[in-house]
Amino acid sequence: MVDAVVQKGLEDVVALESRICFIDGKGGRLIYHGYDIRDLAQHSTFEEVAYLLWYGRLPTQAQLEELGQRLVSLRSLPEEMGRLVDAIPPSSPPMDVLRTAVSALAVYEPSETKPGPSSIGGAQRLTAVLPTILGRFHRRRTGLPPLEPKPALSHAAYVYYSITGREPSALDSRALDVAFILHADHELNASTFAARVTASTLSDLYSAVTSAIGTLKGPLHGGANERVMELLAEIGTPDRADEVVRSKLAAHERIMGFGHRVYKVEDPRATILREWSRRVGEAHGDLHYYELLRQVEGVVHREKGLYPNVDLYSGSVYALLGIPSDLFTPLFAASRVAGWTAHVLEEYQDLRLIRPTASYVGPVDLVYVPIAERGGPETDRAAPPPSKPVRVGSAD
Ligand code: COA
Repeated sequence: MVDAVVQKGLEDVVALESRICFIDGKGGRLIYHGYDIRDLAQHSTFEEVAYLLWYGRLPTQAQLEELGQRLVSLRSLPEEMGRLVDAIPPSSPPMDVLRTAVSALAVYEPSETKPGPSSIGGAQRLTAVLPTILGRFHRRRTGLPPLEPKPALSHAAYVYYSITGREPSALDSRALDVAFILHADHELNASTFAARVTASTLSDLYSAVTSAIGTLKGPLHGGANERVMELLAEIGTPDRADEVVRSKLAAHERIMGFGHRVYKVEDPRATILREWSRRVGEAHGDLHYYELLRQVEGVVHREKGLYPNVDLYSGSVYALLGIPSDLFTPLFAASRVAGWTAHVLEEYQDLRLIRPTASYVGPVDLVYVPIAERGGPETDRAAPPPSKPVRVGSAD
C-alpha cells in the first residue's frame, strides 16, 4: 500500500540515464549518440550505425570493414541449432521461432567461439545470426533447402538473401539498409526496457534479447506495419480510402501507423520511409501502396490531426521487395537487436537492479482457512475482471 501516484504504463517516468538515444518528441528529432537520424539515413549504413550504438562513436573506414567482416564470420548456426530450427512446426509464428532460437543458441554455441555473456562479441553474434535463423525457418516452411553463405553481402542485403535466396538490387538493398538504420534503436521502448530489466539482474545477453523478442512480438509494440498492409488490402483502391478510414474512425478503431506516445509531430522515420516507399515503388513500377498510403494519411490528418509513425510506410517497402508480411516484425528484430544489445551493455556499465514497486490494492489480514473447510461464496470469489478492455494498438 504505497502512498504514491501510480504511473500506469510508466508513462513519463524517467527510469534511467542513457547516452544511446534521444527522442525530441516536440521537435520531431531522433538522435543516436549525438547524430541526427536524417544524417545517418542519408550517409551511413546499418553496420556503421550498429558500431555507433555499441561503441558510442562512428568508426573509421578500417574499423567499419573489420566489423563488417566480423558480422559475416558470425552468421553461421551450430549444426544442432540448424536441426532445432528445422524441427519447429512450419506454421509457427516467425517471432516465436526467433525467440526460441535465440534462447536455444545460448546453450548450443560452440564453447571455443562462445562470446562472453556480456560482451560486444555477443552483441555482434546475435546481430549477425538473426537473419540466418529467420531465413532457415522461412525456407524450410516453403520447402526450400538452407542457403550457402554469401560473405560479400551487407547485413541488410543478407537479410533479403536469407529470405528470398536472391541478392537484392542496389536500390532495394539500400532501401532495406535505411529501414534498418531507422529501426536500430528507439530509447526505452518496451522491448528495450525488457532487455534492460533482464540485464539489470545480471542475467546474460542472450536472456536479455530473448526477453526483448518476446516483448516486441506483442501487437501493442512490433506488429503495426503488418496491420497497415491489412488496411491497404481492405481499402483496395485510393478512391475508397476516405470511406473506409472514416468508417473505422467512426467505430473508434485505431488506424495503424498513426500516432505515437512520444512524437507530437511527424515521426522523422516516417518522413524518410515515405520517400523510400515512393522510390522503391517507382523502381518496381508499382506505386499502388504509396498512393493508397498518401490518401490514408490525408484522411487521418484531416479527421484526427494524427501524424504517421515509422510503421506506416515500412510495410509497403518490405512488401514491394517480396517479403511476406509475417516477417515484418522479425525484420524489425533483426535491426533493433543492435539497439537492444547496446542498451544491455550500457546497463551492465551502470548497473542497478530495476525493481519498481506496486501500489497494493488487495486485502490484508484475511484469515487463513484450512482447505478442507473452504468453499462457498466467501472463499470462492473469482478475480475481478479488468476494469478496461485491452486496447489493440502498438507503441515502439
Ligand atoms: N488511430 C485513431 N486514433 C488514434 C490513434 C490512431 N492510430 N492514435 C491515437 N489515437 C487517438 C486515441 O483514440 C485518443 O483519442 P481520444 O482522446 O479521443 O480517446 C488520442 O488519440 C490519444 O490516444 P492515446 O492512446 O492516449 O495515445 P498514446 O500516445 O498512448 O498512443 C499509440 C500511442 C502508438 C499506442 C497510438 O497512437 C496507437 O495505437 N497507434 C496505432 C498503432 C501504431 O501505429 N503503432 C506504432 C507506433 S510506432
